[in-house]
Amino acid sequence: MAFAARRSLSLRTILFCIFFLIGFSFAEEASHDGDSPKFPGCDHPYNLVKVKNWVNGAGGETLTGITARFGAFLPKEAKNGVRLTAVFSNPLNSCSPSSSKLSGSVAIAVRGECDFTTKAKVAQSRGAAALLVINDKEELAEMGCEKDSSAQDISIPVVLIPNSGGQSLNRSIMDGQKVELLFYAPVRPPVDLSVIFLWMMAVGTVVCASLWSEIAASEENEERYNELSPKETSNASAFKDDAEKDFLDIDVKSAEENLDRMILMESKSGGIENQN
Ligand SMILES: *[C@@H]1O[C@H](CO)[C@@H](O)[C@H](O)[C@H]1NC(C)=O
Ligand SMILES: *[C@@H]1O[C@H](CO)[C@@H](O)[C@H](O)[C@H]1NC(C)=O
Repeated sequence: MAFAARRSLSLRTILFCIFFLIGFSFAEEASHDGDSPKFPGCDHPYNLVKVKNWVNGAGGETLTGITARFGAFLPKEAKNGVRLTAVFSNPLNSCSPSSSKLSGSVAIAVRGECDFTTKAKVAQSRGAAALLVINDKEELAEMGCEKDSSAQDISIPVVLIPNSGGQSLNRSIMDGQKVELLFYAPVRPPVDLSVIFLWMMAVGTVVCASLWSEIAASEENEERYNELSPKETSNASAFKDDAEKDFLDIDVKSAEENLDRMILMESKSGGIENQN
């Protein structure tokens, strides 16, 4: 009887840990929901964007930007993105109809003086395939919309990058060089979320590991108790206990390896902080 109860305890712990780890794997897929209000056509989550760039055909350092609440979704992988020539809007704020030719290109505009949705509509009306907004600060900002902004009419992707990234693109364009851009939004939450995720992952591993050792200890106690009453000891159950312990050890180890891999991935891909 005691053996059956013990088995169901380990089973419950195993299930708990499996669900815990699976749950947070899904959390990793989630993106930042943001604080700005949502309206029809203006309800996208905020995703980090990788901005690949080429100056006269030579690849430059990839910039990090952020998507808007509205506009078209970006591909998740670079290979599905479209490489387009970058052109400054004229006026630079993209608040009134542009006089520069934007068709088929990425329009670049500076932040301020009108809503983000207005900038996007102006760029779109001039035929731009995408809009890149240069922030006036180093941080990334949430590009939301006003109610009744008819954001659902915006069919081009809109991305915001930090000021420094904009300045480096500006230098190349001012030098008369051809700047091309490609946007994609890998499925990854913004940095603050993934730090929380890693922390939870670490705590989860520690909690699970200590539960394992508690079970292992209680099994040892039971075994010692069993030694005193040899009638209840069977070679089969002793063997079973050993097998179970091996399984638990392997599981904790793989959870730790998983965490190491995640941290490695995180440090490789970088984040908002690295861009500043
Ligand atoms: C680009 O640089 C020039 C000076 O070289 C500056 O006048 C202009 O405002 C800059 N444009 C942007 C978008 O920052
Ligand atoms: C149990 O194991 C011991 C030694 O490990 C062995 O001598 C004994 O024959 C085994 N009993 C059964 C029922 O298998």
